[in-house]
Amino acid sequence: MEAFVITGGNKLEGRISISGSKNSALPIMAASLLSSEPMILQDVPNLRDIKNMRALLKLLGCDVCDLEAGAKDSAIRLQVTEEEPCWAKYDIVCTMRASICVLGPLLAKRGKARVSMPGGCAIGERPVDIHLRGLEALGARITLEDGDIIATTDKLKGTTIYLGGPFGSTVLGTANVMSAAALAEGTTIIECAACEPEIVDLANVLNAMGAKIAGAGTPRISIEGVEKLHTALEHRIIADRIEAGTYIIAAAITGGELVLDNCPLDSLLALVDLLGRVGVEVNQADLTEDKRRCLVKVKCADNKTRPRPVQLTTQPYPGFPTDLQAQMMALLSMADGNSVVTERIFPERFLHVAELGRMGARLYRQGPTVIVSGVDNLIGAPVTASDLRASASLVLAGLAAKGRTIVRRVYHLDRGYEQMEKKLEAVGADIHRVNVDETSNL
Ligand code: EPZ
Repeated sequence: MEAFVITGGNKLEGRISISGSKNSALPIMAASLLSSEPMILQDVPNLRDIKNMRALLKLLGCDVCDLEAGAKDSAIRLQVTEEEPCWAKYDIVCTMRASICVLGPLLAKRGKARVSMPGGCAIGERPVDIHLRGLEALGARITLEDGDIIATTDKLKGTTIYLGGPFGSTVLGTANVMSAAALAEGTTIIECAACEPEIVDLANVLNAMGAKIAGAGTPRISIEGVEKLHTALEHRIIADRIEAGTYIIAAAITGGELVLDNCPLDSLLALVDLLGRVGVEVNQADLTEDKRRCLVKVKCADNKTRPRPVQLTTQPYPGFPTDLQAQMMALLSMADGNSVVTERIFPERFLHVAELGRMGARLYRQGPTVIVSGVDNLIGAPVTASDLRASASLVLAGLAAKGRTIVRRVYHLDRGYEQMEKKLEAVGADIHRVNVDETSNL
């Protein structure tokens, strides 16, 4: 098993390049199942989740190959070569619950799909009831058998669908229904659609393939079904806003000064607003008009003062993203006062609380809310990662803590952060990857 060994105290200074978005690439790769013509994607991040999706698509009759080798973001070509296999089995779905986003494309193109119910995960039970409700509204017949979702249809038919749930909209549910509706007969209106930038990126690829989608990025999306979808050539995946947000917070927590390139400043305004109140300046540092990929400079207003406490509530986009909640908590644990963090999307998403507590953070959880009572500094300790963003939070805490922090089970990080330790080391962090066994006191 691998771990990161981090010695805290270094201010991060330098330049980090942001990779393509994992959460955009996954549903877009699944959408390659909607056509028998090739899809070429650029800026696909080199991550474990992407590798899992490639393996799943191969099992579903879709060939995926690299167009230009290289450890950095790569270009890939995807093309369906056979339409028989339609079963996404438990062994692969349980390693990556985002596999659920093959359900809509398989059903729409092949008329049948068998996808293992994705189990819960460290951040909550992760139901897919809204996905299924949306596909049934399009005319799918859905049954459950041996833990698998079995969906069939002769032809999906457009209709108006409300996709809201108790926690707001669903990102992958919107992706599934929008992808399926692209090949349905007639027009579909999705009300209470997810507005995330990843949905906009997916709609742009589907429209490049010949779909007729309008309103992506707003709560109401309309999809006029077409007979056939074609090729999608040279689509560049949007930059990863959560990776960018994580490194922006890394600069803040170390009191450093970072420049991020290929940074999607346009989709980080909730974070920028909050950090402004914490005392961290995040500004565009170039003159490009395209704020989805620009140069961004992060600096603490005054390196000597501690972050100011704030009140933070996670919400669906464009609200503050749940995927940056843990990272912000690490920063606020050293604020000059008490902050209040409320998690409205995944109320159980607090596995980082106990681990940050091992590093001296004073955190008091009451249900979906944590009171963060700021301390002068954190103390390095051995901690264990549990899910992707909680792991990132522990790395950020280690960068600022006094002494040495060992973050174990960093395979969680490799799911969503490309060469995190290398990117951090290149801007001054004292961090390296080691092999440890579970029993070692490392
Ligand atoms: C996507 O997950 C992201 N994953 C998550 O990022 C992100 O945290 C989440 O959206 C919210 O922004 C990918 O895009 C691969 P949801 P998704 O359906 O679509 C409830 C990361 O760290 N819900 O928008 O699975 C659900 O329980 C990952 O990169 C239902 O009740 O999330 C949650 O409370 C973690 N029924 C809320 O909706 C459903 O059928 C939002 O979930 C579906 C969801």
